[in-house]
Amino acid sequence: MQKSEELIGKKVLVTAGATYEPIDPVRFIGNRSSGKTGAALAEEFYLRGAEVYLIYGNIHVPLPTYSGIKKIYTPTAQQMFDVCVKLFTDVDMAVLAAAVADYTPIQFSTVKIKKEDGEMTLHLKKTPDILKTLGEQKKQNQILAGFALETNCLIENAQKKLTSKNADVIFANICSEENPAFHVDENEIVALFKNNQMKKLGKNKKYILAEKMVDELVMLLHDKI
Ligand code: C5P
Repeated sequence: MQKSEELIGKKVLVTAGATYEPIDPVRFIGNRSSGKTGAALAEEFYLRGAEVYLIYGNIHVPLPTYSGIKKIYTPTAQQMFDVCVKLFTDVDMAVLAAAVADYTPIQFSTVKIKKEDGEMTLHLKKTPDILKTLGEQKKQNQILAGFALETNCLIENAQKKLTSKNADVIFANICSEENPAFHVDENEIVALFKNNQMKKLGKNKKYILAEKMVDELVMLLHDKI
């Protein structure tokens, strides 16, 4: 089922899910992202005719089954970074919906770390920032979209992210008791654009919000052409 042809000839990269940063063979640093939004976005882009690369980490939803969506599994931030940087030069748009871990252990223990008495210290280093790096590499005709999930000062932080990462749009979703955002079907999203325009996409099922986000991104892409 193809819904439209509006993105025929366009290539889109979507990231989805959580990266898991390994501590030892059985433990990792991760987060609660399910990958639902990223998977829905990839499917929606595909149904509108785009050639889609879905770069996914650890997800808790079925992957889109369309064989036309190229799926690449990147369990860690570094692996996701390497694939995204390589593919970015070849795409018209990148939508980074993955919840990438901000920190990763400096050392990976090849054997399971034994429990000992007292406290334990884990030394962490920052992961590479995919959104920021793609923002630095972005060409004039490319669109870059990121996400912001905050528990407070959402709009202010999303606006800062828009500028500091050189994105064209940031989709901001608040994480609160009423809108937990992770592992649920619904979400509430506000889109913030480069020209300071702000658009409420409302509270809805994640797949409906994916349609609305793709509508906005199609308009941005057409503006650039
Ligand atoms: O800075 P923060 O992690 O809140 O930014 C979230 C946005 O940045 C998301 O779009 C996420 O996919 C992206 N991101 C990234 N690489 C990182 C961290 C976040 O691409 N290392």
